[in-house]
Amino acid sequence: MKWPADRITKSSKKSFGMYEKAAKLMAQNIDVIHLEVGRPSFDTPYHIKEATKKALDDGLVHYGDFFGELKFREALSEKLARYNNIIATPEEIVVTSGLTHGAYATCMAALDPGDEVILLEPYYPQHVNKVELAGGKIVTAPLNRNEGFSIDAQAIEQKITPKTRMIALVNPANPTGRVYSHDELQALAEIAIKHDLLVMSDEVYEQILYDGNQHISIASLPGMQERTISLFAFTKGYAMDGWRMGYAVAQRNLMEAILKITINDIAHVNVFIQEGGYAAITGSQDCVLEMVAEDKRRRDLVCSRLNAMPNVSCEIPDATIYAFPNIEATGLSSQSIADSLLAQHQVVVETGAFYGAAGEGHLRICFGAESYERIEQAMNRMEKFFVALADS
Ligand SMILES: Cc1ncc(COP(=O)(O)O)c(C=O)c1O
Repeated sequence: MKWPADRITKSSKKSFGMYEKAAKLMAQNIDVIHLEVGRPSFDTPYHIKEATKKALDDGLVHYGDFFGELKFREALSEKLARYNNIIATPEEIVVTSGLTHGAYATCMAALDPGDEVILLEPYYPQHVNKVELAGGKIVTAPLNRNEGFSIDAQAIEQKITPKTRMIALVNPANPTGRVYSHDELQALAEIAIKHDLLVMSDEVYEQILYDGNQHISIASLPGMQERTISLFAFTKGYAMDGWRMGYAVAQRNLMEAILKITINDIAHVNVFIQEGGYAAITGSQDCVLEMVAEDKRRRDLVCSRLNAMPNVSCEIPDATIYAFPNIEATGLSSQSIADSLLAQHQVVVETGAFYGAAGEGHLRICFGAESYERIEQAMNRMEKFFVALADS
């Protein structure tokens, strides 16, 4: 039997970006500042860990419910009603191994070979892999670059063909940090309804919002719940990236197909870590607010410092842990800037082009993964770089 090696390589190709290059320096013990990896720097809140440890001590170590533990899904159902305006029964929720797993199960369940999925560009690259592994084809529709990467309904509609099956939405958006407005989501919803499309809605950053910005789940708009697979995770908001826990929400007919995948690839998520998730969802949300307040401090530092550098301009992100500064005025590609920053100053940033051609002219800078002091150091190094570049 011949392995479909080219399909596997093609699908995993976009996974690492600048991290791969930085890893070579790290292997030589060189002090590298990471502004490329999108993970929280905080420890998981204590009460979440305690609940998980207790679950282990209480003997919650055996097989559980395929959907996820019922009391956990009941709590998630309440959270969805309260925060997302989504009315979902526990049978319409499956606990997943992070949002990644929910997105993978969605693509495997929803796509037939040759089906097209529209990604809004600049896009989150890991969704490309999942679509391709399911035999689907990526079609990109540019976001409106001149309006802070807002949704461009016309650009999306132009990309629809008889093979279009799904639109992948990331809201709040990675890499741009934008929170889509009600009007933008309504325009996308109208297209989905008109052309009878599914929407895979990645809401992993739903809690990381600044300046009073409100997050709207597209499934809460009229006519959308029946065609949306809403994906959430504990990853970012509760600093639980290593725990691998999230949940997918879809109506029963879609959920049955998703469950066919999740039951066969992991059976269900570890029972005792679901106790941690239950504690996270039912406990005080002050821990989330404290982490977001610190992220905001780091965001403000990064944006004000970047905007003072020659040939760099940075819009203030509404949400997420990413700034997406424009570096077009340097006249250099994002790859060349990122490579030079790494080689000359050991600061790792991601290239805008990593998020598709529409991201070119930008860098993506994560301000969530390093401490305030380390970010300050990184900004000092970047300032030296951009000043020297402008003087050369
Ligand atoms: C938009 C987006 N979706 C999904 C993920 C992955 O989430 P998880 O770790 O829960 O699988 C990330 C991680 O950076 C992300 O930025």
